[in-house]
Amino acid sequence: MRSIEVGGAQSYSVEVGSGLLPRLSVPHKQVALIYPADLPAQFVEQVQAALSPIVMVEVPARDGCKTLAVLSGVLSRLAQANLTRACAVVGLGGGAVTDLAGFAAASYLRGVAYYSVPTTLLGMVDAAVGGKTGVNLPEGKNLVGAFWPPRQVWADVDTLATLPPATFREGAAEAYKHGLIADPSLLARVLSPDFAPGQTSLLHTIADAIAVKAGVVTRDLTEQGERAHLNFGHTLAHALEAVTHQAATHGEAVGYGMHYAALLSREMGGQDLAPHTLAFLKYQQPKALPTLSFEDVWPYMARDKKADAEGVRFVLLHDLARPYLARVPSTVLRGAFEAWVEDVRSSA
Ligand code: GLY
Repeated sequence: MRSIEVGGAQSYSVEVGSGLLPRLSVPHKQVALIYPADLPAQFVEQVQAALSPIVMVEVPARDGCKTLAVLSGVLSRLAQANLTRACAVVGLGGGAVTDLAGFAAASYLRGVAYYSVPTTLLGMVDAAVGGKTGVNLPEGKNLVGAFWPPRQVWADVDTLATLPPATFREGAAEAYKHGLIADPSLLARVLSPDFAPGQTSLLHTIADAIAVKAGVVTRDLTEQGERAHLNFGHTLAHALEAVTHQAATHGEAVGYGMHYAALLSREMGGQDLAPHTLAFLKYQQPKALPTLSFEDVWPYMARDKKADAEGVRFVLLHDLARPYLARVPSTVLRGAFEAWVEDVRSSA
């Protein structure tokens, strides 16, 4: 078992271990448990037995739950059960469910206690840690939400054994990203055959990947500066998700997007980190993308959250563990995109 502290005004710990679900406990008499329809029944039953929730809310799987309509239904269920401000909301599932459940906790009665129990690799190393909660709008992803840190996060690595291999490799993108931006020891560990459910080193690699994020959000919860570095690879990734209508999953899009960011970094004078990002794509084996031109993706990249009045800023790397934010000339953006298309085609 590993325990990682997340500091700041509301500190909490992330417990990473095996056999955690049956031992969960919270100091609240009223508990609401929110979980996705596709979660294996044994996980729901274990948490139900441990926490005795008085409200159980099943929500649609993956991003199908991150809507205002689903949020509205969840909030109504909490109100119909007369939950008070002393209640706790527990989110059990992947990143979409923990984002939704955290936002339900942030908004019900102007804020109640939230506990997060991620059951996917992506949720453990990224979504469930750091206090970003929210839902999507038809106009875009994560456009409504709140910073609402959990009181505690439990990452039970046993839950990863039921994930389809492609979903596990999808989540590995965020752990690899933490290696690129802050802890290069993670790179070889994520690509190793030992990075797999059932292996004893898995827990420690996940804990070290979480520690990177915990450090960043401790220093910059509300993304005034450093937290933006966690978006390495995400500018193209968000565009790929949008342009493929989510056929490319988030983790797959981040895998592709990290390679583009590595090519941009090299063009802007940084070390050549493309061999690392190509090695990740070889490991991840993401779904093939449709043929794309720069014109297809640029409108989506231009809307990136890191844009300001002067244009889009990219997270780049001078070298491993040396991230920075920069504007990139359009000729470089386009040239690197052509190189990215070629690399992606030959790596498929
Ligand atoms: N997933 C990026 C962040 O939490 O800031």
